[in-house]
Amino acid sequence: MFILILQFLHLASAGQSKTPVCKASLGSSDWPSLCQWAALNASISGRLLQPPPPGAVCHPGQPTYSATECPAVLNAWSDLTLHTENPISSAWDNWNNDSCLPTLPSPCSGEGYPVYVINATCKEDVKAGIDFARENNIRLNIKSTGHDYLGRSTSPNSLSIWTHHLKGISISKSFKPQGCDFCIDVPAITAGAGSQMGELNLAASQENLYILSGGSASVSYGGYLTGGGHSALASTYGMAADSVLEFEIVSPTGEFLTLNECQNQDLFWATRGGGGSTFGVITSVTTRAWPAFNFLTLDMTFGTLAGNPSFYTAMSYFFSQFPLLSSLGITSYNSVTANGSVNGINYGGFQGNFMLPVLSPQNTSDSLNAALAPILANISATYPDQFVFSVSNVTTYATFYDWWLPFNGPDNAGTELVIGSRLIGADALRDTNAVETALKGVLPSDIGTAGLNFYLLGGKGVADAVPRGGSDAVNPAWRKALVHCVTGTSWTPLDNAEKAKVIPKLTYTTVQYLRNLDPDSGAYINEADKYEPNWQKTFWGSNYERLLQIKRKVDPEDVLWCHPCVGSEEWEEVGDRVCRV
Ligand SMILES: Cc1cc2nc3c(=O)[nH]c(=O)nc-3n(C[C@H](O)[C@H](O)[C@H](O)COP(=O)(O)OP(=O)(O)OC[C@H]3O[C@@H](n4cnc5c(N)ncnc54)[C@H](O)[C@@H]3O)c2cc1C
Ligand SMILES: *[C@@H]1O[C@H](CO)[C@@H](O)[C@H](O)[C@H]1NC(C)=O
Ligand SMILES: *[C@@H]1O[C@H](CO)[C@@H](O)[C@H](O)[C@H]1NC(C)=O
Ligand SMILES: *[C@@H]1O[C@H](CO)[C@@H](O)[C@H](O)[C@H]1NC(C)=O
Ligand SMILES: *[C@@H]1O[C@H](CO)[C@@H](O)[C@H](O)[C@H]1NC(C)=O
Ligand SMILES: *[C@@H]1O[C@H](CO)[C@@H](O)[C@H](O)[C@H]1NC(C)=O
Ligand SMILES: *[C@@H]1O[C@H](CO)[C@@H](O)[C@H](O)[C@H]1NC(C)=O
Ligand SMILES: *[C@@H]1O[C@H](CO)[C@@H](O)[C@H](O)[C@H]1NC(C)=O
Repeated sequence: MFILILQFLHLASAGQSKTPVCKASLGSSDWPSLCQWAALNASISGRLLQPPPPGAVCHPGQPTYSATECPAVLNAWSDLTLHTENPISSAWDNWNNDSCLPTLPSPCSGEGYPVYVINATCKEDVKAGIDFARENNIRLNIKSTGHDYLGRSTSPNSLSIWTHHLKGISISKSFKPQGCDFCIDVPAITAGAGSQMGELNLAASQENLYILSGGSASVSYGGYLTGGGHSALASTYGMAADSVLEFEIVSPTGEFLTLNECQNQDLFWATRGGGGSTFGVITSVTTRAWPAFNFLTLDMTFGTLAGNPSFYTAMSYFFSQFPLLSSLGITSYNSVTANGSVNGINYGGFQGNFMLPVLSPQNTSDSLNAALAPILANISATYPDQFVFSVSNVTTYATFYDWWLPFNGPDNAGTELVIGSRLIGADALRDTNAVETALKGVLPSDIGTAGLNFYLLGGKGVADAVPRGGSDAVNPAWRKALVHCVTGTSWTPLDNAEKAKVIPKLTYTTVQYLRNLDPDSGAYINEADKYEPNWQKTFWGSNYERLLQIKRKVDPEDVLWCHPCVGSEEWEEVGDRVCRV
């Protein structure tokens, strides 16, 4: 047996060039010794963790099994907070390969999780992890909150750098980028990369400022900004990445770098939209803040009886009105769910939910009502008695934070989930026949309880944004898009046959209806399908070539690797390992 193993190793290394064929894995001959791990731990003042899977407390036979602790974990599993606060857990169970669900019967091992974690609190901790991974051929993982819909923040057989505790927020009235000989005369917020939306919005509101912030109080700035970052304020001020003034990062070669318009300009460009854990690990970010103003919103729901074919034509009419609403400065978070209710009554059919913030200090509640009235009147006149509407009064909020806080957490998690999405431009939205075809495809009448989100978040601010240095790596499709359409699929945990059916259906059938609607557009990397075909073009469009060149230069050894991430083509996942293609 011993001889066979040696022979195997010999054969494996015979085929090897200078660089290893696979990254090391627990038990492989090149996995570091316990002494090496202990030395790493000592170099970071004992901040190296070897965390058990959080579900293990429910599995008799596991070292952390605890009949008293299990019920609390079972109960909290569907709350995003448990997964955010845990060093290795992900929001969606499938990204940890369902390897230790708390529910029984199910297997439990640490196989779907990182092996070691650096609980980083400073840039030196981050550097220690990057250097150790690079020098020892270890797969490196970067987790902040673990929210990622594409599973980019977890990896088996890895050393993970947990950026969650890179905190600290300070606000200044103007900002001098390091190495520039000028000041940028706008309020600025400097924050540790693990800072979360709730903390950032609270700090900003206390100074009567807005930052560009998406939904969910628990999302962190590290992952949000690297993807681009959409928000209700995007149609006014652009993507969150467009407001960034400076990053501090640790590069894949272990250097502390400052990125701004005066130094490391290529990396500054790439880090704003080029994707997380690709060009370096951000430790701190400075972003422009905006003066607060009152804004107005109203909620609207409309519903119909099951099987009403007018639903699709009425919805496509709504879509055709989005360019107009957008031109009036209206942002809108919209969704359709099947079998929802309106005013507490379940009509059995589809229910559309619209939440419409108006984002100009000049607007009044009358102007918002006036913008909406003709649309509602048109539907009532065209389809008498076929739809039921519920429209709230306009509410005025003194700050973004006041509006945002009540519905941005706690959020759900702890299920099986893959999502798919597409950015849709104005011309496509106006084509009512094409929209109707797409809606019938994405929302068939037998859809069950699944649905579609279609967020009106693009528009003037995104199209006209002038990021520092002139441009950034946000998907060019965002500049032309008005609506970000998102749908998804789930399955019974551990039912691999069902999983193998529903994911390709999402990727190649459901989302294809959305691709057909605007074929030259793309999709938003942070809320997208991990299995997206043609992902380079879809997520980065014409920016991809430049991003790839920067990646090859800054990380020639692929110390940072994830999928779908810029430059990931030369490696692939083989079982639980990452190997050269
Ligand atoms: C409930 C919910 C609401 C959301 N709402 C919005 C929204 O309104 N607008 C929007 O744009 N997006 C939204 N998102 C998507 C969100 O932007 C992504 O999930 C994003 O990946 C989260 O980043 P994170 O750092 O919190 O998560 P993580 O999963 O920890 O990280 C995401 C990615 O970024 C990398 N990363 C994290 N930190 C760093 C760092 N410091 N340096 C380098 N790489 C890093 C990770 O390796 C991973 O690749 C939402 C997500 C959820 C779950
Ligand atoms: C790292 O060191 C600390 C303090 O000495 C210790 O508590 C911890 O268990 C060590 N981590 C690992 C993975 O051994
Ligand atoms: C990680 O570090 C933070 C900050 O020092 C600390 O509060 C937290 O308890 C640590 N987490 C774990 C799991 O060790
Ligand atoms: C809000 O105010 C802006 C600026 O005056 C104006 O262009 C826009 O049409 C207004 N929107 C609505 C819905 O009235
Ligand atoms: C629709 O909702 C009702 C009550 O809310 C529920 O009883 C019924 O099972 C639901 N139907 C479907 C197909 O989900
Ligand atoms: C509703 O709007 C459509 C598209 O603009 C238009 O063709 C139609 O005549 C309108 N119907 C009514 C009743 O106003
Ligand atoms: C809107 O406000 C009016 C006047 O205050 C009130 O009578 C009405 O019930 C409100 N409508 C809703 C939907 O809340
Ligand atoms: C997931 O688990 C299965 C079954 O245990 C295993 O075969 C597979 O390699 C794992 N995948 C990853 C990516 O770890």
